[in-house]
Amino acid sequence: LTIRRADYTEPAYWIRNVELTFDLDPAKTIVSSRLVIERNLSLPPQPLKLHGEDITLLRVQANGESVSFRQEPGLLVIDNPPGDNFTLDIRNTCCPDKNTQLSGLFSSDSGLFTQCEAEGFRRITYFLDRPDVMAVYTVLLRADKKRYPVLLSNGNLLEEGELEGGRHYAKWHDPFRKPSYLFAVVAADLVAREQQIRTRSGRDHLLQVYVRRGDLDKTEHAMNSLIASVVWDEARFKLPLDLERFMIVAVGDFNMGAMENKGLNIFNTKFVLASPATATDVDFAGVESVVGHEYFHNWTGNRITCRDWFQLSLKEGLTVFRDQEFSMDMAGGPSAKAVKRIEDVRGLRQVQFPEDAGPMAHPVRPDEYQAINNFYTATVYEKGAEVVRMMQTLVGREGFERGMTLYFQRHDGFAVTCDDFAQAIADANPGSMLSVRLDKFKNWYAQAGTPQLKARGHYNAEQRSYTLTLAQTSQPSPGQAHKLPYVIPVQMGLLGPDGQALPVQLEGEYPSSATERVLVLDEPSLSLTFVNIDVPPVPSLLRGFSAPVRLDDGLSNDELLILLKHDSDPFNRWEAGQRLVLSAMMAATRSDAPPVLDAAIVEALRSVLRDETLDAAFKELVLTLPNERYVAEQFEVSDPQRIHVVHEAMRDQLAAELHADWLWAWDNHQVNEGYRPDAQQSGYRALANRALAMLVRHAVATGDEVWQGKAYGRFKTAGNMTERLGALQALVEAHAALAEPALARFYEMFKGEALVIDKWFALQAGAPEPIGPNAGRVFERIQALMKHPDFSLKNPNRARSLIFTLMSANPAAFHRADAAGYALWESLVTDIDAANPQLASRLARMMERWRRLAEPWQSAARDALARVAAQPNLSDDTREVVSRALES
Ligand code: ARG
Ligand code: ZN
Repeated sequence: LTIRRADYTEPAYWIRNVELTFDLDPAKTIVSSRLVIERNLSLPPQPLKLHGEDITLLRVQANGESVSFRQEPGLLVIDNPPGDNFTLDIRNTCCPDKNTQLSGLFSSDSGLFTQCEAEGFRRITYFLDRPDVMAVYTVLLRADKKRYPVLLSNGNLLEEGELEGGRHYAKWHDPFRKPSYLFAVVAADLVAREQQIRTRSGRDHLLQVYVRRGDLDKTEHAMNSLIASVVWDEARFKLPLDLERFMIVAVGDFNMGAMENKGLNIFNTKFVLASPATATDVDFAGVESVVGHEYFHNWTGNRITCRDWFQLSLKEGLTVFRDQEFSMDMAGGPSAKAVKRIEDVRGLRQVQFPEDAGPMAHPVRPDEYQAINNFYTATVYEKGAEVVRMMQTLVGREGFERGMTLYFQRHDGFAVTCDDFAQAIADANPGSMLSVRLDKFKNWYAQAGTPQLKARGHYNAEQRSYTLTLAQTSQPSPGQAHKLPYVIPVQMGLLGPDGQALPVQLEGEYPSSATERVLVLDEPSLSLTFVNIDVPPVPSLLRGFSAPVRLDDGLSNDELLILLKHDSDPFNRWEAGQRLVLSAMMAATRSDAPPVLDAAIVEALRSVLRDETLDAAFKELVLTLPNERYVAEQFEVSDPQRIHVVHEAMRDQLAAELHADWLWAWDNHQVNEGYRPDAQQSGYRALANRALAMLVRHAVATGDEVWQGKAYGRFKTAGNMTERLGALQALVEAHAALAEPALARFYEMFKGEALVIDKWFALQAGAPEPIGPNAGRVFERIQALMKHPDFSLKNPNRARSLIFTLMSANPAAFHRADAAGYALWESLVTDIDAANPQLASRLARMMERWRRLAEPWQSAARDALARVAAQPNLSDDTREVVSRALES
């Protein structure tokens, strides 16, 4: 069944008030619900149809009396409600223990938890389960006190007390109207880290982070991140905390990262728990960013929510933009901010660009879906954030803040659309680069696919001018054959041959000393002439990645080397280095000759590594080759095994030719002070880990035992997880003999720590296949690990650590000539789909780019997809993915 955006109508009824009573029990929970209902007088009278899924109805009454009703698949229908205003009493049961989908009310080891976005509330009780129906909730929870000492719901605690038979109760009231997807309940055996804060307005708030008893020592960073989020949102956007109590609860079984339920955020443990001994710098950054993200949703998502699920990017794109800005501000200076920007763009290109070019391509504001859970995508989230960022670029930072203020003035408390958001930003900035072309700008919301931007320059020595021609083209995507032009902000500068910044004054403008500006392309093409240019310039376009496009600027290697050495924009410096390396990798992939990087490229990388003025984190990014999956995406059809050979050979080359430089980098980037997960320390550790991996790689290649021993020593004595895991990874990736004892020791050290054991699985699943006679060893090991007593498909984090790592991050191990990887995929998708469709459909997507594979992989992949598609009992989620893949 396809749901279409164009079919949106208002609901026939509103639900204004909700009183829920839960008699909680993992085997059978009884839910009693009293709904205050009002007919929507702007629509003709019609039956009331409430959503319900996998729940058992016990009783229905209207205005306290019996009322006739019937059940249709997924619906409870009341054909003749008693008037325009009435109360409905419903009693039903649900079964948390059998809820393996982890949507609705489900069991995890520490207790009972909910996940209602997008359509989980209907798995708890009958309701108008759509985001434009907003109500005030009062919730009474009753449960066994010993098993579930903590009883939480949204809002404020009204009262709590004892009941007979060892049970107790708690009553919660949330004064804010909210859609059902923001409802939450927790009944569990947990403890909390607490912090009282006073915000600028003088209001006091209680912040709590709830975790399992043994995990309290891993909550400090989450609490600090929460406090920082509160302070940041108030300072940057004047958005204060509106609640007396703000709770975060961690749960070990969770389909995604976290959920912004009003006042009661529920988190995957992965994004709450962090201690130096068990979490890496990357994990610490992930906690900060997800805590920020969910907190920022309190305004962008909860106070103003989505009218319908097609508008998902209204809250997600905007909130990702906000969490990115938060992390950048937390990182510190310009160079640390640039590092964060590079990481975000790298993620966008590795995940969203392929999505936008494949069978699941959809606009930031989709037009249709079969399973809404399939549209929690990189396009809605990360490309959506880029669309918001372009608005900020076009109206300026202050203009954007004005736009946000107007957005809240207009829409606070309502369920609105992406159009409403764009309109508010534009209206607050009359005459801005955005406002004068708002309709065109909104093509970013409406059209799928990544536009190509072609740029060519011509220098005229006589006129001392430089003419730049920009042109955009867009490929067709599913359901969209022809595209309208986009509004593309091109932040840019011009460099002279020695790297000096040149003026960027256009013909006919007053002279200015500016060396950077934003050009706006909003037609198929545009030519602009810069004047007072004394030398043939090298253009530096799309600085900071000012638009989510693929740029073809036709620059030569020599010109890219100039940008790599001198560009004032760190993003474009990194970009120039990546492009030099990527084109070498692509050329080597196409040829049969032994893969080598040119001496000029190696020298340029060496100077970056040795440059005293650059941050360690930035160097690490420049010195990291594009990954194999990203390289594969650059080809029409690709050979994953050849790409692997090239990637490994070039890493070996850098290990050998920069050996002295890696030694220097290792020696000079040791952190000798107490652990802090800040930008400076984590940059040092990232570069030292990279250096160690190169040193061990070289040691294994040359038979030198010293560095293998040193890495093992570091592994054993490391004072934090970043260094310990870095050393372990260096040994595992180089297939050093000491990798085996190190893995065994690591397992023994951490076998009680689920999140660390996830790393242990992921590290082995991501190890590069050896080149030569031992090829295939990594895949065999992964198959063996699937039988490990600690492995389970039921826990999403564990399944992701082994299976998703293999299938998304280890192409050479997955894409085997004997198709064993695809057979594994087929059986896992099938098994997981029966229990958890959301997880299964994410796994199903690992094969959506099958058309891009060369033979024999392409045919084998298609056959595996066809076999899954032929299964009769597939969930809507997985079916949508495999059928779109096969149609492509
Ligand atoms: N709103 C949550 C978050 O961003 C994610 C919910 C995902 N839900 C889902 N059904 N996939 O932050
Ligand atoms: Zn979100």
